[in-house]
Amino acid sequence: MEYAIETSNLKKYFGDIHAVDGIDLKIPKGYLYGVLGPNGAGKSTIIRILSAILYPTDGEATVLGFNLRKEASEIKKRIGVCPQELVIYPRLTARENIHLIAQMHGIIKKDYKERTDDLLGRMNLLDRADSLSKTYSGGMKRRLNVLMAVIHEPELLFFDEPTAGLDPQSRRVVWDFIKEFQERDCTIILTTHNMEEADDLSDELLIIDYGKIIAQGTPSELKGKLGEGDIIEFKVRDPKNRNEIIERAKSLSFVRWGKKLGKHRIVINALDGLRRISDIMDVVKVEMEDISVRTNTLEDIFIDLTGRRLRD
Ligand SMILES: Nc1ncnc2c1ncn2[C@@H]1O[C@H](COP(=O)(O)OP(=O)(O)OP(=O)(O)O)[C@@H](O)[C@H]1O
Ligand SMILES: [Mg+2]
Repeated sequence: MEYAIETSNLKKYFGDIHAVDGIDLKIPKGYLYGVLGPNGAGKSTIIRILSAILYPTDGEATVLGFNLRKEASEIKKRIGVCPQELVIYPRLTARENIHLIAQMHGIIKKDYKERTDDLLGRMNLLDRADSLSKTYSGGMKRRLNVLMAVIHEPELLFFDEPTAGLDPQSRRVVWDFIKEFQERDCTIILTTHNMEEADDLSDELLIIDYGKIIAQGTPSELKGKLGEGDIIEFKVRDPKNRNEIIERAKSLSFVRWGKKLGKHRIVINALDGLRRISDIMDVVKVEMEDISVRTNTLEDIFIDLTGRRLRD
């Protein structure tokens, strides 16, 4: 298999902060690779290292066959980066912003003019293409930020939380846009803390926490690791005896595991949990403020591994 990105023991330390702490990756060409993790996990730092913006503290990486330490300029020519923080010139229109990036990449006018309008249309920005971008809403700016990463048709794309802060409809527009690049065999690295996004788009994904990989695989492999069963989550009025409550629940043969979550919650994984919810209530014998049942999600893997949510 050919890899777009290979890293070994990649690290980035900022003083005492181990933002990226020994990451080994092999990302096959043409994959959409999701990077899922909570705030501060190191997602953006990984992207900034792999897109040759930040120099790693330690470790090695090859991007599109080029050595990250020695051949950064070759890498930069071939990639597109949509950063988490918007990088848009507020006094230029959307069209001018994209043209500027195209010129920086040395694309000739005839090519970029047509391509720009096509891109603006696909992101529903055509009717505002000639207004100054400082007059755009947050969601419009974010969609423009995505377009600016792709005008030069790179073979490797980094999207750092491209859908953060978008309404559901705009989010879908961006997802469809990204999927088109996936169909064209681009390699895409996408960070998110939206588990539906990671689940729906990723060919393979990485869950990271404190700069380390805590799980890796296809979405179904990862969910499969949790095994069958439903997730039952409830909030207890008095959080003191949560360990005992979990032990009582685990005495039931169909309960696979239980975890404390946050200050007041308990999460239980139970086979056929929906039907057996009254059996569970009978043994846990606790006053609940609310209760919900769902099938396994990627977030439950994170809860299982860390006892925390991806997003609080
Ligand atoms: N330039 C910097 N100087 C010092 N610390 C930094 C710097 N950049 C990142 N960090 C720290 O490194 C850690 C990882 O940050 P990073 O931005 O990679 O997280 P993230 O997973 O992208 O989070 P988010 O979901 O909030 O975007 C954090 O603790 C952050 O404070
Ligand atoms: Mg980030």
